[in-house]
Amino acid sequence: MPKDPDIAAHPHGPGHVAIIMDGNGRWAQARGRPRLFGHHAGARRVREVVEACPRLGIKYLTIFAFSTENWKRTQVEVAGLMSLFRRYIAKEMQAIAANNVRVRFIGDRVRLDKKLIALMDQLEQETGGNTGTQLTIALNYGGRDEVARATKRLAQDVADGRLRPEDVDEETLPKYLDTHVLPDPDLVIRTSGEARISNFLLWQSAYAEYEFIDTLWPDFTADELSRLCQSYGARDRRFGSVKA
Ligand code: IPE
Ligand code: IPE
Ligand code: MG
Repeated sequence: MPKDPDIAAHPHGPGHVAIIMDGNGRWAQARGRPRLFGHHAGARRVREVVEACPRLGIKYLTIFAFSTENWKRTQVEVAGLMSLFRRYIAKEMQAIAANNVRVRFIGDRVRLDKKLIALMDQLEQETGGNTGTQLTIALNYGGRDEVARATKRLAQDVADGRLRPEDVDEETLPKYLDTHVLPDPDLVIRTSGEARISNFLLWQSAYAEYEFIDTLWPDFTADELSRLCQSYGARDRRFGSVKA
């Protein structure tokens, strides 16, 4: 059941929202707790946000869970996050699937452990026929890494004679990206007050609208998402053109 029945779709709201879920560490620190406490609180926020999507008219939600740069953190934090992802995927699986949500993962799986990869595959398979909110989780994802991996495969197709160099244009490359089945994000939200994109959806966000908000991710709510969707609706997206 919706927590707030007053939240309704905004007529000109975003169809695809992408979120850089930042601020878990600072949230925990403010409470004198270890960083992982913040990551657990952050993971618990995801469900409310996913569940609000149909009411807000958001068909695609993409969330940044772990970047290719996050391996630079301490071994304790990285291991804690990986175990959180395993538990979260296993536990949330039923609830998510029951709500007609389709889950996909983007990012490079090579560095992830086998157990986690198996859970990711299983969740993608089990929700593969779901037609509601299309949830994409970016895990070991980096925009530059994604473009490099895409280019490698594109170059291989050229080398094997499946693609001619003169046919490569801006419609071609995105077909090789992890996001090839998704539309570009309309609205990218970053929590925690940092005004940077930290390697998230570089190609795809070329014309996205951005919202950098001070709320730390574990404090983010469906109401706040609703407010951001509303202000998105008032924006004038020109895509380089001028109004007729
Ligand atoms: C975002 O929160 C979660 C991940 C990057 C995994 P942070 O852990 O970056 O939190 P802050 O930025 O240190 O507060
Ligand atoms: C971006 O947050 C990655 C995720 C939210 C998963 P970071 O906290 O890693 O980004 P920086 O280091 O502040 O740029
Ligand atoms: Mg951070």
